Amino acid sequence: MEKRITIKIDRIVEETNDIKTFTFKHTLGAKPGQFIMLTDFEGGEKPFSISNCTKEEFSVTVKRIGEFTTRLFQKCEGDYVSIRGAYGSSFFVSKNKVLLVGGGYAVPTFYFFAKVLLEAGADVTLINGARTKIEHVFADRFIELDIKVLNVTDDGSFGEKGTAVDIAQKIISKDKFDFLYASGPELMMKALQNVIKDIDYEFLFERYMKCAIGICGNCTMDPIGLRLCVEGPVLPKKKVELLTEFGKYHRDASGKRHEF
Ligand SMILES: Cc1cc2nc3c(=O)[nH]c(=O)nc-3n(C[C@H](O)[C@H](O)[C@H](O)COP(=O)(O)OP(=O)(O)OC[C@H]3O[C@@H](n4cnc5c(N)ncnc54)[C@H](O)[C@@H]3O)c2cc1C
Ligand code: FES
Repeated sequence: MEKRITIKIDRIVEETNDIKTFTFKHTLGAKPGQFIMLTDFEGGEKPFSISNCTKEEFSVTVKRIGEFTTRLFQKCEGDYVSIRGAYGSSFFVSKNKVLLVGGGYAVPTFYFFAKVLLEAGADVTLINGARTKIEHVFADRFIELDIKVLNVTDDGSFGEKGTAVDIAQKIISKDKFDFLYASGPELMMKALQNVIKDIDYEFLFERYMKCAIGICGNCTMDPIGLRLCVEGPVLPKKKVELLTEFGKYHRDASGKRHEF
């Protein structure tokens, strides 16, 4: 297991009412798509994707959902939390023409990834989707990068009106991409899978994780018992196609199934 370390929150940026980015001065050495486990020692330890990582620091971008994230939102710059990781698989780095399709709080991990893709020489287009303007994140951050960005909201309150999947389908019908990556709600990725049959892809999955090191079995996916914390969270097309539970059900902390 990677060593647990206690680190100071260096900076906090309020992205929206319910989404904040926490930056830590620590050399994490993570790859895009990987995640850390974070605890405040007050109950629970939760996985968060890395939204930026340089030699000197890294960031996670967190949506306030329940008890743990509400407590995290009360933290200030200078407060301490504890992390372990980085864990899991990372995105394949293409050098060609790629399409990133992201939804909601899962989009920021593409900021870190887009920078790595650009360094590799890829031609990058991003669909940055959210339900509504107040849930749309990182539009200002992506402007800094030399990529094409299509902002989209379900209700049309920011960018084009429609879902990220609608827009992906539209641009794929007009333009050819060598590789596609998706990070967002599982049902978004399931809908996307149905419209991108001819393109090779990788999807970043989020399932309930406890140990993050392949022991507890809480994050396994049927029927191959794939452990998302070790073999994922980024999965290639050939593995995604084997998953019978993709888009159908997920598990809670006790391992009990819930339909989407
Ligand atoms: C690989 C991975 C990367 C993630 N990256 C991010 C990220 O970058 N930003 C972000 O805001 N969130 C991310 N999440 C989800 C995040 O872990 C949950 O939002 C958080 O744990 C919610 O905790 P809570 O106590 O506030 O909410 P709760 O009320 O406890 O739970 C609300 C919902 O959050 C999810 N959740 C809760 N605990 C876990 C857990 N241990 N593992 C996975 N999901 C959980 C479940 O869907 C649950 O229904 C990621 C999850 C995974 C698995
Ligand atoms: S979270 Fe325990 S095996 Fe993946």
